[in-house]
Amino acid sequence: MDKVKVGVLGATGLVGQKLVQLLLKHPWFELELLTASREFVGRKYGEVVKWLQGPFTPPELNELIIGSTDLSTIMDSKVELVFSTLPSKDALSVEAELAKRGIVVISSSDSMKFEEDIPLLNPEVNADHVELTKLQSRRGWRGAILKTPNCTTVILTLALKPIMDELGLRKVIVSTMQSISGAGLTGVPSIDIIDNIIPYIDGEEERVERESVKILGSLESQVVKPASITISASCHRVPVIEGHLEAIFIETIEEPDVELASKALEEFKGNKIRALNLPTAPEKPVIVRRELDRPQPRLDRYISNGMSVVVGRLRMDKALRGIKLIALGNNLIRGAAGTSVLTAELLTAKGLVYGR
Ligand SMILES: NC(=O)c1ccc[n+]([C@@H]2O[C@H](COP(=O)([O-])OP(=O)(O)OC[C@H]3O[C@@H](n4cnc5c(N)ncnc54)[C@H](OP(=O)(O)O)[C@@H]3O)[C@@H](O)[C@H]2O)c1
Repeated sequence: MDKVKVGVLGATGLVGQKLVQLLLKHPWFELELLTASREFVGRKYGEVVKWLQGPFTPPELNELIIGSTDLSTIMDSKVELVFSTLPSKDALSVEAELAKRGIVVISSSDSMKFEEDIPLLNPEVNADHVELTKLQSRRGWRGAILKTPNCTTVILTLALKPIMDELGLRKVIVSTMQSISGAGLTGVPSIDIIDNIIPYIDGEEERVERESVKILGSLESQVVKPASITISASCHRVPVIEGHLEAIFIETIEEPDVELASKALEEFKGNKIRALNLPTAPEKPVIVRRELDRPQPRLDRYISNGMSVVVGRLRMDKALRGIKLIALGNNLIRGAAGTSVLTAELLTAKGLVYGR
């Protein structure tokens, strides 16, 4: 199989860096284009990137020249699929224009996430929603747009899905402790976060509540019927560099049973994609830790190369008469770049990246 030519829009940012790292040696994808904001166009990646993934920028990346995010540059590059980490205001027009011209766009920006024909994908949870892309031809698009959920939502929905399948979900309350990398390279000034917790993240609670019911919803006659779960989120920024921790309280529809819930989480294989053997898919999308003091961001954020959600402290919850647990996920990998690459693998395996 020829490799699919891919580009990363916003390759210098935190999610962009993880993306190029994952794509560099990918068996199915060939990195063809890196872009950043206007001031860096034409310069060498190694000179301008503030590389935070290790001591040195990988040598294969150093000499690559940063391209412009203009439509003509992207089209000239011959990419078939792009990963977009652009800010929402810049993403809207360029992503739609690319889809119109036959490119598949996997995007982590907020724009269009709730439109009926746009899948919001967390592959092990709702790979079947990829069908929605077939409706996008009505927009006159030869390509497609797929959205990657917010990082907190990816982690939450992976922890909820096995319990939903086993016991049903009526209400979910989630209180988050989100790392500073979740806000991007320039997101949180150190003077605000060291020795502190910020009990507000703009728009995050609404995102988590709304995205989760779409992802956990069922696809019926090419329409996603949102899951009928009441979700309430409280989101907080904490002085951790990478890894979001979530305290989750659940009212189940069936009689709550901690052992059944643990077993469902432990045995969850992500059946919606399992048979496809996608290169980035973790063997176990959810890992259950039995120790009383796990998961912890510093210790558990790179389990399965950062692609698994780690859960622990499953116990009965008296207030909701249900189950409570802690979930941890790597916000930059499982919460963003890794899920985007997994989505691209899913599309490729299903023959939905056609080339142009
Ligand atoms: N961080 C996370 O944990 C996380 C998780 C899930 C989703 N997301 C989403 O992913 C996206 C990127 O997040 P991030 O944390 O990587 O942000 P970031 O570190 O601030 O990076 C943003 C990237 O976009 C580029 N950019 C900004 N404006 C641009 C423009 N007008 N044209 C071209 N490139 C432009 C930046 O290039 P320069 O370097 O040239 O400025 C940089 O490469 C956001 O939508 C965010 O909500 C982030």
